[in-house]
Amino acid sequence: MIFTVAIDGPAASGKGTIGRALAAEFGFAHLDTGLLYRAVGARVTAGEDATAAARALVPRDLENPALRTAEIAAAASRCAVIAEVRAALLDFQRRTARREGGAVLDGRDIGTVVVPEAEVKLYVTAAPEVRADRRYLELVAKDPAVTRQGVLEDVLARDARDMGRVEAPLAAAPDALHLDTSEMSVEAALAAATALVRDRLPG
Ligand code: C5P
Repeated sequence: MIFTVAIDGPAASGKGTIGRALAAEFGFAHLDTGLLYRAVGARVTAGEDATAAARALVPRDLENPALRTAEIAAAASRCAVIAEVRAALLDFQRRTARREGGAVLDGRDIGTVVVPEAEVKLYVTAAPEVRADRRYLELVAKDPAVTRQGVLEDVLARDARDMGRVEAPLAAAPDALHLDTSEMSVEAALAAATALVRDRLPG
């Protein structure tokens, strides 16, 4: 069975949590596509050219523990505006999405560019303050110098760059189900997403 769940949305909207839970529930593969851009950002921070870095990615790049830092997130979003970087990452994402057995991909352009034919499309969002608070709690556990205001500014800058870029900007596909997790518990969002997947599954 070929079956793709495409989940898009801004930073810390809850799309990763929903993606992981759907993959576990239905036995699908899960690809957090932000990790690919973060891995490019990490290589660029270490001095490589962005396009060359995107073309040279290997699975081990995705295991780098530094990928979760705010510095690498910002570097990822700067690399993500480059058309050649996006093109270099496309084929791997498409193959993963259309692999046998089903897949969940989360990112910014999955339902619009990577897999417009996805059987299920979700657009997960939340108010910027709610998203920044979630990200702050994650980051401060590792680095006590992180501030709420700093995280909010980073999130807003990243949203503006991701939504405003020319290449594959963050946007909801016209046929995506919108889930606003600032209004909704993760459990409720997950229940809505699970029901939609069940409804679209063949048989
Ligand atoms: O999802 P995450 O916050 O890890 O993504 C890091 C950055 O990678 C985003 O801010 C965005 O610029 C970029 N990205 C993208 N397209 C995707 C996934 C991530 O441009 N499909």
